Amino acid sequence: MSFPFAESIRSRSAQIGVVGLGYVGLPVACMLARSGFHVTGVDINQEKVTKIAAGQSPIGGEEPGLADLIAEVIPSGKLSVTTEMARLSAAQVVIICVDTPIEADTKLPLYRGLRGVLKSLGPVLHAGALVIVESTIAPGTMQAVVIPELEQSSGKIAGETFFVGHCPERVTPGLLLKNLITMNRSVGGQTPEIAEAMLALYSTYVTGQLDATDILTAEIVKTAENAYRDVQIAFANELAMVCEQLGADVYAVRDLVNKSPGRAMLMPGGGVGGHCIPKDPWLLIANVSAGYQAKLIPAARAINDSMPRHVCQLTADALARHDKPLRGARVAVLGYAFRENTDDDRETPSQYLVEALEQGGAVVQIHDPHVRRYTQPLMDVIAGADAVVMMVAHHAYQSLDLAALRAQMATPVLVDARHMVNPQSALQAGLTYAAVGRANS
Ligand SMILES: NC(=O)c1ccc[n+]([C@@H]2O[C@H](COP(=O)([O-])OP(=O)(O)OC[C@H]3O[C@@H](n4cnc5c(N)ncnc54)[C@H](O)[C@@H]3O)[C@@H](O)[C@H]2O)c1
Repeated sequence: MSFPFAESIRSRSAQIGVVGLGYVGLPVACMLARSGFHVTGVDINQEKVTKIAAGQSPIGGEEPGLADLIAEVIPSGKLSVTTEMARLSAAQVVIICVDTPIEADTKLPLYRGLRGVLKSLGPVLHAGALVIVESTIAPGTMQAVVIPELEQSSGKIAGETFFVGHCPERVTPGLLLKNLITMNRSVGGQTPEIAEAMLALYSTYVTGQLDATDILTAEIVKTAENAYRDVQIAFANELAMVCEQLGADVYAVRDLVNKSPGRAMLMPGGGVGGHCIPKDPWLLIANVSAGYQAKLIPAARAINDSMPRHVCQLTADALARHDKPLRGARVAVLGYAFRENTDDDRETPSQYLVEALEQGGAVVQIHDPHVRRYTQPLMDVIAGADAVVMMVAHHAYQSLDLAALRAQMATPVLVDARHMVNPQSALQAGLTYAAVGRANS
């Protein structure tokens, strides 16, 4: 059969299921609901479902527009949420947005959530339904995992009695709705006809360019774009280390490098985190290692993974200038989310910094205005500290009163991992200032 629901998508009468209501799935479900579709969101997390069902956002941090959107689409009945997959039995389109972590040692994809969804979705899958995976997956996964598992659990046949597509997501926590609406997307269909139907679906709320392609290309594009970013950041971090060793300022160097045509060097910093950039480069190469041994991508990962330990070393070195050993020193870490203005702390570099500091015998206190367990008053965390380490460029840290900060500290060491403080201002405030990518002696 050919895909039977193209017209329902065009007329927005299609019933849509969204599985996984996290940073990706929840905004997607909301935008489809606002576009006029009847949307059912499914998540295994009861607490999350209860909160969304009450019209509230389970996502913290600064997410402009999201809470208002949830408060609009839930009471209107356009979006309903549940923990029961059976509620998707009438869905003509199902979009899968579950997390896709990798195994810590092997760096290979786990797909526990994805396989769980495929197992429980199959028995209730509507005949002729289109199943779109938005989760980031290793190239080849749609063919080797998604299609066979869904065929087995549903008893249906891909391309005949159900259809598949892959439309990877590009959002960033802190900018979820803006990214979702404005960013270009690769729309990978099992066939050109399916890609066409997917274009109709996504064009209901995406203003960015939608490029129809095949599934494998879409899988590679997504993992490649994040591997590209990771490599670019690793270059900036490597140059930062070189500049520190040579006694130069990487930010001054970067400004001038970027005046050369075609150069767009990124910012160095205290490490790379989140649910995407640290794992997607590994997903890109997960299925090719037998035929080709990737070199650049693992090297970039190693550089970026080493940055929190480097920040720990900068802290120890700066304390030593005050004859204060790291062992026993009180260190305040500012920022625990993986990036600014979000509450998402998955794979956060701050976690690895804290581990390194504690291994060195430091007594660590953490502050983050968005990560619920670290929201105590900032000055309570700083009071009596021997070093303050700025790890995340949250808005809340942009205009810190350095003199007030200094006044609270036992030893005046400020370590800047995110290029947030003017070194002269720090010196004027009486602080010993150390930073990633600057001369630090
Ligand atoms: N977070 C981002 O900024 C971002 C950006 C682009 C792509 N992605 C990709 O999108 C995917 C989702 O990421 P996320 O950040 O939204 O993850 P998340 O952890 O915030 O959300 C995933 C949700 O899926 C639910 N879930 C897991 N297994 C389930 C199951 N068997 N049945 C129903 N629900 C289940 C979880 O409870 C969770 O609420 C990942 O593949 C990620 O790589 C994420």
